[in-house]
Amino acid sequence: MCDECCCRCRCGEGLIVFGVIFGALVFAVLLAAFGFVRPPPFVVDDASLTRFNLSAATSSFAYNLTVTLVAHNPNWAMAAKNTKQMDVEYRFDGQVFERIQLAGKGDKLRPGRTVVHRLSSGSESALVPTLGNAGVVEYRDERAKGTFDVEVAVAGEVRYTARYTKCKIEATCPLKLQLAPPGTTAVAFQKVKCKLASREKNC
Ligand SMILES: *[C@@H]1O[C@H](CO)[C@@H](O)[C@H](O)[C@H]1NC(C)=O
Ligand SMILES: *[C@@H]1O[C@H](CO)[C@@H](O)[C@H](O)[C@H]1NC(C)=O
Repeated sequence: MCDECCCRCRCGEGLIVFGVIFGALVFAVLLAAFGFVRPPPFVVDDASLTRFNLSAATSSFAYNLTVTLVAHNPNWAMAAKNTKQMDVEYRFDGQVFERIQLAGKGDKLRPGRTVVHRLSSGSESALVPTLGNAGVVEYRDERAKGTFDVEVAVAGEVRYTARYTKCKIEATCPLKLQLAPPGTTAVAFQKVKCKLASREKNC
């Protein structure tokens, strides 16, 4: 009688201990999976500028630029779903001369995934109405130096799986581009890690 009684109470204790450990494990896994968001890093792997002519008279660029932009979702359980269209802007001297759609509203970057965007764009007259005289001076300076500072800026908004908050995505990638007109040997390009804007709460 007594033996049986002791066994029962031991088994009961064992079950409780097991339950607590199991519960703590499940909690830890859920916390690791959904508790913390890591923003997606962007890297410009390659870029090539084959034409960059400014017409001061019309305040516009005749240009050709290809950019390989790599996006990665470092979260292993959460997809990043675009709640707005995600765009890339090209800027010279702070002025936008091109905008390109990177991902549509509703598109997802799945957990752990990497997407390579090969952006190729050009224009005979990409207008930069706000370049102004200062921008023209800057352009001439950079042209003389042989290196153009072009900024690639990513802007969007995502929501992560199992989360309510929408998170703004803003990254800027400062590129130093040497002109490589078609037919010339390709200019070496050093990878550029884009800078993420400071994060909002819960993002
Ligand atoms: C662009 O400038 C280069 C010289 O820098 C010139 O050879 C070329 O013809 C120009 N292209 C246009 C479309 O103006
Ligand atoms: C440069 O851009 C123009 C658009 O203005 C396009 O017609 C042309 O094919 C592009 N050149 C190259 C080499 O991509």
